[in-house]
Amino acid sequence: MLGALVALTACTKKQAPAPEPEPATPGSLVLYYSQTGSTEKVAQLIAEKTGADIEKFGVATPYDGDFNATIARCQEEMKNGTVPEITPLEKDLAKYDTIYLGYPIWFGTYAPPVAGLLKAVDLKGKVVIPFCTFGSGGLETSTANLKAALPETTILDGYGIRTARVEKAAAEVGCFLVNSGIVAGEKVELPEFSAAKPVTKADIAIFNAACGDYQMPLGIPVLAASRALADATEYVFTAKNKGQKDKEAATKIYVVAPNDKNVKPEFTKVVR
Ligand SMILES: Cc1cc2nc3c(=O)[nH]c(=O)nc-3n(C[C@H](O)[C@H](O)[C@H](O)COP(=O)(O)O)c2cc1C
Repeated sequence: MLGALVALTACTKKQAPAPEPEPATPGSLVLYYSQTGSTEKVAQLIAEKTGADIEKFGVATPYDGDFNATIARCQEEMKNGTVPEITPLEKDLAKYDTIYLGYPIWFGTYAPPVAGLLKAVDLKGKVVIPFCTFGSGGLETSTANLKAALPETTILDGYGIRTARVEKAAAEVGCFLVNSGIVAGEKVELPEFSAAKPVTKADIAIFNAACGDYQMPLGIPVLAASRALADATEYVFTAKNKGQKDKEAATKIYVVAPNDKNVKPEFTKVVR
């Protein structure tokens, strides 16, 4: 808004000097790892919308295999208790007090290169805003794990999006930054979810439409709660996982069902 006003004044006063370009947010860095480009898209959006500097970090021995090779290497590393070494950062982290830390979710939490980063750099006293991309979910677990790993760092609530929905990140990142008070704008207050009730046939149809074609079974929905969004209904399903009785009712699956019935419902995240 300020930028728009400055531009308007500059246009109406003939002799006024050209407005200065918007300065980058002082002290903020988007620092991210991305193997296949999804997290990179979100990283670029955050940098664009906040004016923060940006750096992608890598690992000394890249995970450059396919999905199965990466899984196999991670399993080997987990078995041996090793963490990949990262390549040296170009940016001096001492100059930044806020880090937007981005990563893919691997094995339910931040990908091992982030563990390598945490080993190599000092984030004490800084504010970290996590963001991630995932097949089904992992923002909450990875944020909790960051808090445990960095007790002297302020870890704020972050943003996560499924790879399959990453094209929608531009709008969502904008809302996230405004609602978090990072970027100026009108915050959107969402209503509370209704109390969870046993699923109806209609709820199950929505769940199946949203989750049925996901490559992994997400469980059997038993409870549903909902709330109205501007142009959709958002559901949170509590699902019991097939064959894992003690995990019963432990998984929450968030689904958005647009009011336009021609648009397919989709799940936005799974919280385990
Ligand atoms: C080794 C490996 C493990 C993964 N584990 C999970 C997982 O536990 N949960 C999940 O939702 N997605 C998982 N994924 C999917 C990635 O999180 C997802 O594809 C992500 O968007 C990739 O980000 P990138 O394109 O920035 O590398 C995994 C992917 C890989 C390669």
